Amino acid sequence: MRIITDKKILFGLGGATVLLIVGLAVFLRVSTPAAAAIGGPFTLQDIHGRTVTDRDFRGSWLLVYFGYSYCPDVCPTTLNDVSTALDQLGDRARDLRPIFITIDPRRDTPQALATYLAAFSPRLDGLTGTPEQIAAVAKEYRVYYAEHRTGPGPDDYTMDHSSVLYLVGPDGRFRSVIRADAPPDQIAADIAKRLP
Ligand code: NI
Repeated sequence: MRIITDKKILFGLGGATVLLIVGLAVFLRVSTPAAAAIGGPFTLQDIHGRTVTDRDFRGSWLLVYFGYSYCPDVCPTTLNDVSTALDQLGDRARDLRPIFITIDPRRDTPQALATYLAAFSPRLDGLTGTPEQIAAVAKEYRVYYAEHRTGPGPDDYTMDHSSVLYLVGPDGRFRSVIRADAPPDQIAADIAKRLP
């Protein structure tokens, strides 16, 4: 009986140690800055139909947003607010390139994106790609998107998608999330305090 009791105590200690290690691992994972894990290399198509990669954007600060041109409300509001914010920043954001990456590549061809974005600001770049390329870049930026059917026709769908602005440095590394639902002057202030 004595031995069994000791074994129970030893097992109890072992279990506590395992719990401690698991707890520590969870703590480290949660507390690790997410900055290291957001963003990454991509290969996409610009509004002229040319193949571009993340390397083509090195040297510029980027403000990256994921959405789609058929979006009824959130995307147009965000694009308007970003355009206003960039106007407010003026020379301060001269070297900042706003980039709209579609999560609806079937409808957002390079030409469709060009037409759509020109209505907001001549500064806006648009990127599209194959469904696989879009899935890859969305995964890197942890962007959620999903088709939502509204009818039987091929174009009868909307896209659910996360709405976040990503500030990327000239070295191609993610710097910060900027709230996309903030008013333009707040977006401008958030960008300004992170630019050099
Ligand atoms: Ni949208």
